[in-house]
Amino acid sequence: MKIHRDLLDGSAKLSRGIEQLLDVPGSDVGEAVARMKFLPFSHNLIGFAHHHHEIEDHGYFPQFARMYPKLNRGFALLDGDHKVLDAALDETQMALNALNRATVTRDSLAALHKGGLALEKILNRHIWDEEEVIIPIFLRHG
Ligand SMILES: [Fe+2]
Ligand SMILES: [Fe+2]
Repeated sequence: MKIHRDLLDGSAKLSRGIEQLLDVPGSDVGEAVARMKFLPFSHNLIGFAHHHHEIEDHGYFPQFARMYPKLNRGFALLDGDHKVLDAALDETQMALNALNRATVTRDSLAALHKGGLALEKILNRHIWDEEEVIIPIFLRHG
């Protein structure tokens, strides 16, 4: 659950950070990105999210699905969510790569903003759904 809170906090921080960048004059964006340590933070968040999904996809979910065949449909939905999330994480990463260019355009910041908000929204919904499925299992097994 701590991991989930960290992911939600991280994605909210990412969106707020992008909003701050939107307020910075174009010529100062590079400096602001460096000052906010925005790229290492984003890189860690995206890596952390991918890693968490891999552990669930290859560890927890197959194990729980074997223990509780009735929940297979729920795990299939969560697995589908992970694919959507992976695509959203990759899109955000691509939009972040544009911040490495010498000049950062408003369009690339707008694309990043859209990607960050989409990621935050999908992650919130997914974690809510996932906890609905897995919390009863954890409660049952103490
Ligand atoms: Fe999770
Ligand atoms: Fe998940």
